[in-house]
Amino acid sequence: MTASKRIVLSSDHAAIDLRQAVAKHIAQQGWDVVDIGPTTPESTHYPRHGKAAAEAVASGDCSLGIILCGTGQGIMMAANKVPGIRCGVCSDAFSARMIRQHNDANMLSLGARVVGEGQALYIVDAFLDAEFEGGRHATRVGMIETQED
Ligand code: RB5
Repeated sequence: MTASKRIVLSSDHAAIDLRQAVAKHIAQQGWDVVDIGPTTPESTHYPRHGKAAAEAVASGDCSLGIILCGTGQGIMMAANKVPGIRCGVCSDAFSARMIRQHNDANMLSLGARVVGEGQALYIVDAFLDAEFEGGRHATRVGMIETQED
């Protein structure tokens, strides 16, 4: 399977159940899911998991990533420290669609203590179904990349 249908998932301890629900949901849609855990409920450190997932995307091994923690915020901050990563936290489907269409986001972050499973899967679908629109948005995304130099 090509990287275009390969997606990495990770979380901290606060979001294991939701991560596994997301994994099952998108696998049913034909995605090759690379779930890098964790699988046990012990307290862990979200920066580690955000970085690992972001590196799988930045390296080209996976085309997209979905990461989760209690709020989605901390793990998003860690992922965005990896060059080439554009990750947004979303609690609604409109934002999830727009971060793909306008910001060419390659990662989505979810807060397991913020959204329920039904809403989370709706957000995931919006993110995966949308495509980058390019044009003026490509100029702006390019400006973000320039800030990484
Ligand atoms: C863990 O308690 C919690 O701080 C973490 O999951 C996340 O919400 C941090 O941003």
